[in-house]
Amino acid sequence: MGVLSAIARTLRPAPAVAALTAGALALSACGGSSLDQSGGGESGGPVKIGLLIPLSGVYAPLGQDMRDGFKLYLDQHGGKLGGSEAEVVEADEGEGPQTGVPAAQKLVSQDRTTAVVGVVNSATALGLRDFFTESKQPLLVANAGADAITAGRKSDYVWRTSFANGKVGAALGPAVAKEAKGGVYLIAADYAAGREMVAGFRKAFEAAGGKVAGEKYTPFGKTQDYQPYLSAIRSSGAKAVYAFYAGAEAVSFVKQYKQFGLSDEIDLYGTGFLTEGDVLKAQGQAAVGTKTSLHYSAELDTPRNKEFVAAYQKAFNEPPTVYSVQAYDAAAALDKALAKTKGAGGQKLAEALGEVGPIDSPRGSWTFDTAHDAQQKYYLREVRSSGGTMVNAVVSELS
Ligand code: BEZ
Repeated sequence: MGVLSAIARTLRPAPAVAALTAGALALSACGGSSLDQSGGGESGGPVKIGLLIPLSGVYAPLGQDMRDGFKLYLDQHGGKLGGSEAEVVEADEGEGPQTGVPAAQKLVSQDRTTAVVGVVNSATALGLRDFFTESKQPLLVANAGADAITAGRKSDYVWRTSFANGKVGAALGPAVAKEAKGGVYLIAADYAAGREMVAGFRKAFEAAGGKVAGEKYTPFGKTQDYQPYLSAIRSSGAKAVYAFYAGAEAVSFVKQYKQFGLSDEIDLYGTGFLTEGDVLKAQGQAAVGTKTSLHYSAELDTPRNKEFVAAYQKAFNEPPTVYSVQAYDAAAALDKALAKTKGAGGQKLAEALGEVGPIDSPRGSWTFDTAHDAQQKYYLREVRSSGGTMVNAVVSELS
């Protein structure tokens, strides 16, 4: 069975329109609209939000979680954002900019959405930055971590409710430098996110005295057999591995790491995407002991998170993931900003996003920093079996 079909078996079916809470989330197929782009809510009509998520390709499971997170926020808030009824138009980001950029352009130009939320892939986010800036339409990135988006290529119109790749990697560097009993091998998917997750980790790791035993980037979206790379890791003499993979690639990498016998010899670390959500379910026992950094775990022991996990579990019959939370929080930020603009979009909405203040999130309260990135805590997590179910137990706070 192929990797994608293996993970596809764990996916929930896309919610049918009929199954959605009445009035809470009006999912439209992509199509034309007569709504004014400055914001339907401003004229008393519904406010139209584009949800740009991968519905196909390596990252499809992440898109499902984002859809569910966004939907839960709407269900909990009467289907409204900023006081106006919310209408959600979905588009498939696919596996990268070739599909993601035209899909976003259609949401803005044809569907005339007031704001677009989503984007999983860093390369897609980088490809969209100029389009949203030039068309003066707000984009709330709810996953893609491309560093430049909230640094050198910061835009008045682009806000991020997730993370910057380098920061997630950097959070783990000092902990691995302290724990590893020798050199560490770095391995990641070969595209913007993989390169930045490694660069951020490497800088913090080496600054804390860590030694790199080797470094490799595997073709993104094309690699199914990791054995040649696992052989190279073994012959490098590394005592630990730091990896960035997500979605179907994370399932293959972690399962093959175990099958190849490496998990008994070489400790596995990574950014939390390596063991998150449906991916962890598909990895099962093979993931036990993997340690990761992330700004969320469904295991976070706070009243806010427990309440969120219970509501999400009730709605979707499984625990939430970081992807669900990032989209849930994007809805929260939009809700506050649209309340300030009375439903108006464009420049007014982009400016209002800078005034939303703290977001009361299941991950812990966070705020947008001056570069429009989420300023937040990171956690060290370890995969453990809890009564036969794999969980990302929270070990400690990293920053
Ligand atoms: C990214 O491309 O930025 C990304 C994709 C999946 C998980 C984390 C980051």
